[in-house]
Amino acid sequence: MYALEAKSLFKSYRTRGKKTEVLKNLSLQVKKGEMVAIMGSSGSGKTTLLHNLSGIDLPDSGEVFVDGKELSSFTREELALFRRRNFGMVFQDFQLLESLTVGENILLPMILDKRSEKEQKQRLQKMLKLAEIEELEERGITELSGGQKQRVAIARALVQEPNLIFADEPTGNLDGQTAENILGCMLELNRKTGVSMLIVTHDSRAASFCQRILRLEHGGVKDDVL
Ligand SMILES: Nc1ncnc2c1ncn2[C@@H]1O[C@H](COP(=O)(O)OP(=O)(O)OP(=O)(O)O)[C@@H](O)[C@H]1O
Ligand SMILES: [Mg+2]
Repeated sequence: MYALEAKSLFKSYRTRGKKTEVLKNLSLQVKKGEMVAIMGSSGSGKTTLLHNLSGIDLPDSGEVFVDGKELSSFTREELALFRRRNFGMVFQDFQLLESLTVGENILLPMILDKRSEKEQKQRLQKMLKLAEIEELEERGITELSGGQKQRVAIARALVQEPNLIFADEPTGNLDGQTAENILGCMLELNRKTGVSMLIVTHDSRAASFCQRILRLEHGGVKDDVL
C-alpha cells in the first residue's frame, strides 16, 4: 500500500467565465518513507496539486488515497480530524495566526487535539530547538522576518509527528545555509520516523535532498529518478 496515491485527478478553476484547466488526468504514488520533490514553472499547478492531495480542496474528478483510505469518503469533520492527525502542512504563505505567539502557533494542532500540557511542553521545546528558534517562543508573528515565519511554519507542521508532510516552498525565503539546515532537519526526521514528504521547490539543491523529482507539466507529472 502506498502512503499516498492519486488516480486520474482533474482540477480546473473558473474565473469570470474563463476556465483554467490545471490538473489533467494526473496520477502519482508516494511510497512510505519516500521524500519526493515537486518542481515546475510558476503557475504550473504545484500549489493546486498539494491542496488536492491533502484534502484542502477537492478535485473535479479522480481519487486520492492515503494509507488506502479515499479522502472523499470522509465527512467534513472526519477529514479535518484525519488531516490534523496525519498531515503536516507548510503553506507557501505560512498561514500563521497573528493573534497568537510563536509558541502558540506551533502548538495549535496539539491544542485542538487536547493533548496533555506535559506532552505539549515537551514537543514545543523539541520543535523550537529543531527549527533553531528557541529565543522566539514568546514573540508575536508580526515581529518576525520572512525566514523566521517559515521556520515557525515548519515547526508547526512537524509538531504532531505526522505520517505525511506537504510542504510548499518550505525554504523559499531562507538563505542558503539556513535552507540547508532546515532541509537537513527534514531529512533526518524522514530517516528517523519514516515520514513521507512531498516538497514543492524551485531550488534544485533542495530537490537533491529528495529521492525522486516529479515535474509538473501540462497538467501531468513526469517522473525523474535521481
Ligand atoms: N483559486 C483560484 N482561482 C482561479 N485560478 C486559480 C486559483 N488558484 C490557482 N489558480 C490558477 O491555477 C494555475 C496554477 O496555480 P498554482 O498556484 O497551483 O501554481 P504554482 O505552480 O503553485 O505557482 P507558483 O510557483 O507561482 O506558486 C495558475 O494559472 C493560477 O492562476
Ligand atoms: Mg504555488
